[in-house]
Amino acid sequence: MTRPVIVAANWKMNGCLSLVDEMTASLAKVELSENTRVIICPSFPYLASFASKQIDCNLNANIALGSQNVSEHEKGAYTGEVSTEMLNEVGVKYVIVGHSERRSLYKETSSLVAHKVAKVLNAGMTPIFCIGESEQERETGQTNTVLASQIQPVIDEIGIENFSKIVVAYEPVWAIGTGKTASPELAQETHQFIRQFIADVDLEVAKKVSILYGGSVNAANCKELFAQQDIDGGLIGGASLKVDEFSHICSAV
Ligand code: G3H
Repeated sequence: MTRPVIVAANWKMNGCLSLVDEMTASLAKVELSENTRVIICPSFPYLASFASKQIDCNLNANIALGSQNVSEHEKGAYTGEVSTEMLNEVGVKYVIVGHSERRSLYKETSSLVAHKVAKVLNAGMTPIFCIGESEQERETGQTNTVLASQIQPVIDEIGIENFSKIVVAYEPVWAIGTGKTASPELAQETHQFIRQFIADVDLEVAKKVSILYGGSVNAANCKELFAQQDIDGGLIGGASLKVDEFSHICSAV
């Protein structure tokens, strides 16, 4: 089964209008292999600008726009929140859900995350569903239990038949923004566990679902990581803010 290679950029609360301009101009020149998908997730204020630049720069159809978060509510008195309908209207195709920063800083529980995953799917967009263990959980041998406890609520909420419609991003919390990348072997071992966990419920879904690695991915380590059997690309933070480096990652895979 050939799964696409997905390179997703999570700008977090970084970037500005000129980065939108520079990134779109650079991506317009990048040669993407047919099997590569690129997703750029800027902050909410830049989504519409990116969408209009996509048209102006005539970006490859395999380059899509993503959001970093979404509300679990439909509409109404939720000051500061953004709905799936609003994201759809500005051309968003992917939504990052359950990033570890949302889980830890904004107390998003696995059940809320599962609810958001379903909301995004029902709105016709693709959730990038994030999971990952802390350093202490890894050191005390709890990694697989933690990952299972994050995945199961999503299977329960959307049904296994819909699980291959989402993208999973495994991001060990200890590797995020630390420069401490998981070794390709360790990342592969964990991705294999994730795929097997899904395969135990439905083998065909497990073969189809894309599982990305995130945590200090850069131009120097992306090739080896993405070459692992169960790693289907990356969710990239810091290196996605550097136009040349990110473009290099997109063309290198
Ligand atoms: O969403 C992206 C991840 O949190 C990884 O961030 O590449 O800066 O470690 P990083």
